[in-house]
Amino acid sequence: MERVMLDVDLAMGAPGSDVDDGFALALALADPDISLELVTTVNGNTDVASATTLTLELLHRLGHPEVPVHRGAQLPLLRPQAKFGSVPDDVVAREPQATPAAAAMVEHVRANPGEITLVAVGPLTNVALAMRLDHTFAASLKRLVIMGGVFSKPTNETRMPGEFNIWNDPEAAEIVLGSGIVAQWVGLDVTLKVRVTMAEARAMAASDHEFAAFAGRYTVAWIEHLSSRRPEQADSCAMHDPLAVAAVTHPELITWQDAYVQVETGDRLRGAMIADPLTGGWAPDGKTQKLQPNASIAVDVDAAGFTRFFMDK
Ligand code: BDR
Ligand code: CA
Repeated sequence: MERVMLDVDLAMGAPGSDVDDGFALALALADPDISLELVTTVNGNTDVASATTLTLELLHRLGHPEVPVHRGAQLPLLRPQAKFGSVPDDVVAREPQATPAAAAMVEHVRANPGEITLVAVGPLTNVALAMRLDHTFAASLKRLVIMGGVFSKPTNETRMPGEFNIWNDPEAAEIVLGSGIVAQWVGLDVTLKVRVTMAEARAMAASDHEFAAFAGRYTVAWIEHLSSRRPEQADSCAMHDPLAVAAVTHPELITWQDAYVQVETGDRLRGAMIADPLTGGWAPDGKTQKLQPNASIAVDVDAAGFTRFFMDK
């Protein structure tokens, strides 16, 4: 059994919002090999207050109101990218736990050293804060799986030079990359390969199952929103965040590559990442120590295998 903490910038349940954090949460609850012990929220797809309310709402809908939810960072570490999201009027406002996300993560890992896998599917602000609160945090995790970055090619998916979660808080990503843990990074170039189609979303929306109907409705709206911006990508949306959850119990769905990863925190290519596979072992003078990998990055995915696993849940 994998004991998991999940960090989300969840917006499912707000009209026209990204839905993949919601599916990641649902998948973590549905996977019989995962025990979901803590959920934390972060500013990203929406503001952190909305993300927290929507996360609590979704846990209720999924029949798991007992899972503790801790509200996290309101803003990225250095540069404000405040999001102003919204929550529909009929969503009940529920209070999260009192302890802030980063402190709750630290407490949970201190109480269970070497036991907990952290899956982070939003900007890395809470994770970096936890690493700053306790310098043993990274080493005390069992694993860290991140949806973030784009490694194998430039992307035109967004107007930013990299991927949203990292662009939103590159300083946080830099702290994580320097923390000593070799995290598993599931980047956008790979997550774009795992998709839910409009036909699948409509079938979900028509289902008798309460969560499927709810999630299907919002997925249809999300695909419509994406198609209005990018007609060439109409008819499906990517399941970025669920792939990071699937990587916990089904790492074999993904092809992994050790790498030395750096992130740009300057203005020009803010949030861009460079992954060096270290195959050349750059030590031209024979004295310089070779770089060690600081990341394991996803380079490919068995998309059909993922879809089978995901749809089965
Ligand atoms: C990431 O950004 C968000 O919009 C998604 O939820 C995912 O975590 C993809 O770039
Ligand atoms: Ca996300």
